[in-house]
Amino acid sequence: MQIIHSYGSKRLFIPSTYQLNSGGEKSNMAKKFKTKITEMLGIEHPIICGGMQWISRAEIVAEVGNAGGIGFITAESLETPADLRQEIKKIRDLTDKPFGINLSMVPEFGLPARTLQFCDVVVEEGVKVVETAGRSPEPLLPKLKEGGVKVIHKLTSVKHALTAQRLGVDAVTLVGFGSGGHIGNDNVASFILIPKAVAALDIPVIAGGGICNGKGFLGALAMGAEAVLMGTAFMITRECKIHQNIKDRLVETKETDTALLLTTIMNPIRCMKNKLADECLAIEAEGADFEKIITTVAGGKGQIAYDSGDPDGAPIACGQIAGLIDEVKSVRQVVDDILTEAAVLLNRLNGLAVG
Ligand SMILES: Cc1cc2nc3c(=O)[nH]c(=O)nc-3n(C[C@H](O)[C@H](O)[C@H](O)COP(=O)(O)O)c2cc1C
Repeated sequence: MQIIHSYGSKRLFIPSTYQLNSGGEKSNMAKKFKTKITEMLGIEHPIICGGMQWISRAEIVAEVGNAGGIGFITAESLETPADLRQEIKKIRDLTDKPFGINLSMVPEFGLPARTLQFCDVVVEEGVKVVETAGRSPEPLLPKLKEGGVKVIHKLTSVKHALTAQRLGVDAVTLVGFGSGGHIGNDNVASFILIPKAVAALDIPVIAGGGICNGKGFLGALAMGAEAVLMGTAFMITRECKIHQNIKDRLVETKETDTALLLTTIMNPIRCMKNKLADECLAIEAEGADFEKIITTVAGGKGQIAYDSGDPDGAPIACGQIAGLIDEVKSVRQVVDDILTEAAVLLNRLNGLAVG
């Protein structure tokens, strides 16, 4: 017989013999998964929190590390290289587990000198891994490789993944069409992107976008991924320092409640539908130029909305996976639930295999 656990109504299918402890915080039936990525990064579980602008600060990244995964502090959320050094000091006071730094670049803005200075800090501080995104990591690689830093490049197409492999990155994260944040221009779903990438590449592939539970996790590993990367699922956690109003709105958000902004400037970003998203879509439909569009969405509006709790005041990146998330959990509970559900599903699949 199966029960549907009370705190995971839409998500956890747990046979009655495997019920979670009360609160679901701990379960000794969860399995451990050893992959090329757990080995490469020295982490317990192949579960990654992708860098999130304004959100991925020391506290939540430390929490992901303490739960056995790994997260990335977004350097771009900080003003100066000195601030990044300070943030690294802060996370080291919070955890002795591995963590990384996200270096996001905006294609239209070229390569800011600041990004190279962030690389210097990464190397000098002995950080072991960076997540690069937004444009080719090529100009960053000499510094990072010389400093012994592993580089995971996040992208949205197999073609660019092959280039990244040729340039010498250590792993790639492929994010599919349903992901939160920038989704590229190919519009390919993770279900197709991941097996394609695994077949084409020799370096480890991480599956990103559209994952929040054991089904997505196990599905990604079954497709050949060596880890999963999530954004939205970690955004909707207790430890995430955004206002409760925003978390509540995200919990209400259905899979059909996201919108793609910035498609007219060829840099689409998937966000929750809200007033600001409507405004942006309206000016894009009117043919607004780059300057006007960027002024509408940027300028630190995200940080202000996250702090003040105005769910309509900024473009709030969010994946379609929000439709499968109906409560705010702790980071550890997100990780534990994935592993528990994956173990249950493995048993189920074994049971289904006949002959
Ligand atoms: C609120 C939010 C902010 C994000 N900011 C960044 C960022 O600054 N840099 C980056 O590389 N990716 C960013 N992302 C993308 C995530 O790292 C990750 O690739 C994505 O969320 C995965 O899809 P999912 O949300 O479906 O899990 C962001 C995502 C969200 C939801």
